Amino acid sequence: MSSEDVKILAIPGSLRNESYNKSLLRAAAELAPEWLSISVYEDLAEVPLFNEDVANRETPGGVVALRGALLRADGVLIATPEYNQAVPGVLKNMIDWLSIGEAAEGLEGRPVAVTGVTTGPWGTRLAQTMLRQMLTSSQSILLPQPNLYVRHAESLFDEAGNLTDAETRVRLAALVAALGDWVNLLRGSGCVHDPVHLSSVAS
Ligand SMILES: Cc1cc2nc3c(=O)[nH]c(=O)nc-3n(C[C@H](O)[C@H](O)[C@H](O)COP(=O)(O)O)c2cc1C
Repeated sequence: MSSEDVKILAIPGSLRNESYNKSLLRAAAELAPEWLSISVYEDLAEVPLFNEDVANRETPGGVVALRGALLRADGVLIATPEYNQAVPGVLKNMIDWLSIGEAAEGLEGRPVAVTGVTTGPWGTRLAQTMLRQMLTSSQSILLPQPNLYVRHAESLFDEAGNLTDAETRVRLAALVAALGDWVNLLRGSGCVHDPVHLSSVAS
């Protein structure tokens, strides 16, 4: 497959300083092929709680910044924790903001891959399934495979947050490469960055 340079925005669904999901995305950046760059979004805390009254008046600065970062990228990689068998509120809140008005350009018609890591034994399966459902609503173009459900996080990362588990590194590298190929494939189809085309076929 021919490969153009690809820029990926990686969004961790955790605001925690020592977040495993953030660490997973930093590892993804290290493991990316030379034609693909990944920047990890660190400002999700700046997105306020969604309020439709506010949304009808203005787009808050934190949402404008996020939309801008998304529009500068060719694709998106989201790493979600699982809280109470669901996605964390910060990700649901982000998608609510990115589903209306100009901010919707941030996700609509864009190639997106999903992964996630938990300290528990189930690897964020429920959270990732829910996130995929929400991203369908926002008309993102989801990478279908490979899935990467990362469990028992404490045994896979060192104390500095480096991903040390060899098998997880291989599987993460495969996911990143597949997302890059997905971006290039969709570029060739003319679908990417063309929300008008998508809404015309979705109705
Ligand atoms: C309030 C709360 C609820 C949680 N619920 C689940 C859960 O339902 N399933 C699961 O696998 N892990 C659950 N966990 C564990 C988190 O997924 C785990 O701590 C993860 O590492 C958090 O992500 P982070 O390291 O990126 O901050 C929960 C953690 C918290 C704090």
